Amino acid sequence: MHNSPAAIRPATGRLGILTPGLGAVATTFIAGVESIRRGLSKPIGSLTQMATIRLGQRADKRAPLIREFVPLASLDDIVFGAWDPIPDDAYSSAKKAGVLEDRHLEPLKEFLQGIVPMPAVFDQHYVTRIHGTHVKHGSTKRELAEQLRQDIRDFKSAHGCDRLVAVWCGSTEIYIAPSAVHASIDAFERAMHENHPDIAPSMLYAWACIMEGVPYNNGAPNLAVDAPALLALAEREGVPVSGKDFKTGQTWMKTVIAPGLKARMLGLEGWYSTNILGNRDGEVLDDPASFKTKEASKLSVLHTMLQPELYPDLYGGFSHVVRINYYPPRGDNKEGWDNIDIVGWMGYPMQIKVNFLCRDSILAAPIVLDLALFSDLAARAGKSGIQEWLSFYYKSPMAAAGLTPEHDLFIQQTKLKNTLRHLMGEEQITHLGLEYFP
Ligand SMILES: NC(=O)c1ccc[n+]([C@@H]2O[C@H](COP(=O)([O-])OP(=O)(O)OC[C@H]3O[C@@H](n4cnc5c(N)ncnc54)[C@H](O)[C@@H]3O)[C@@H](O)[C@H]2O)c1
Repeated sequence: MHNSPAAIRPATGRLGILTPGLGAVATTFIAGVESIRRGLSKPIGSLTQMATIRLGQRADKRAPLIREFVPLASLDDIVFGAWDPIPDDAYSSAKKAGVLEDRHLEPLKEFLQGIVPMPAVFDQHYVTRIHGTHVKHGSTKRELAEQLRQDIRDFKSAHGCDRLVAVWCGSTEIYIAPSAVHASIDAFERAMHENHPDIAPSMLYAWACIMEGVPYNNGAPNLAVDAPALLALAEREGVPVSGKDFKTGQTWMKTVIAPGLKARMLGLEGWYSTNILGNRDGEVLDDPASFKTKEASKLSVLHTMLQPELYPDLYGGFSHVVRINYYPPRGDNKEGWDNIDIVGWMGYPMQIKVNFLCRDSILAAPIVLDLALFSDLAARAGKSGIQEWLSFYYKSPMAAAGLTPEHDLFIQQTKLKNTLRHLMGEEQITHLGLEYFP
């Protein structure tokens, strides 16, 4: 079925990408984009830069690059801005994070030193392991959020930006359960005035961005924009939002392997996952309150994909354990182990072991780029509220009330590509193949 293409405003002018948080992920992302712009690196891991999209029938052999098919901002038109309670510029922060080697960082030194974070809205109550000195002051949370709005406007005019998008690359905050203060725009705004403890800094950034018409993408498991009040605000203001928690290492693997088990109707008795991680994120997650937020995000994945309610014999009672241990010698080079106890024909047990030596920020950086470019596309196409087609990038995808989120990486990929086809008025791909095998 052909649709008429959506009216999409062109991607002309500068796009400002704002990151609350200028730590390992944000600096690896920024340095990578600059390195690619200078022709020194390839955008490996990024769909917006490297992936193709099949259009029409297989025999047509039409498979343009996504970036040639949909109007995306060019990397050359991007400018970067950030907030962080630690005053380090992007160069010093990247050096401390230790993700990129000097041979990559040194040529970019001057450029990275030019990216200096704006003072953050930060409160140690929400991230106990960070001692922030570079922070905003105000008597109410509303006042602090208004200062963020001013930063956004100032950044836009100072850098001559046509459009802005935001990607949260800040720390994981303590666990906050949704409550009455997140239930409506009015309740939320009242709670900002009253300095209610359930309003975390990440929510103030989300509120400020939405109020300024800036798409907000949430890379951490913090509730942030995933609450009725802010979703209603995003709809009211016509702003796209997405989240939560970048899907990078172990969970990405889970969303590849679990659909494979289910596709073959193999059972699962248990899935034990453990990690060692030595970067600042690992240190923050060493606090049980921040880990609880991460754990909730990591645990939700298997149940939703395996649907024990539909397959009680296969997935009725599996145990799922997730551990993260802070282990400084490894820095950003996380090591994860998965032990998967599966069950086959006549109930015979089998095991799968996965030992993933990954680099967290190297996997996260292209996700930041894609989310920034796709959410800008969504805004130019007039979309607002939850961008479910961006679930592909998240461990804990946001879904409309009453819907279970889609976790299966391959369904997510189909949804993403079909959304792009739909935007451009192309046929959906059904994989029926009736043209060839009637
Ligand atoms: N790297 C991955 O694979 C991955 C995957 C999923 C999620 N994440 C999440 O992405 C986030 C960033 O990860 P990272 O490795 O860069 O961590 P990091 O600790 O290196 O950087 C986070 C930065 O956020 C800053 N920050 C904390 N509170 C802030 C606030 N209120 N406003 C602005 N800045 C604030 C910190 O000072 C720090 O510099 C974390 O929440 C992490 O859990 C990362």
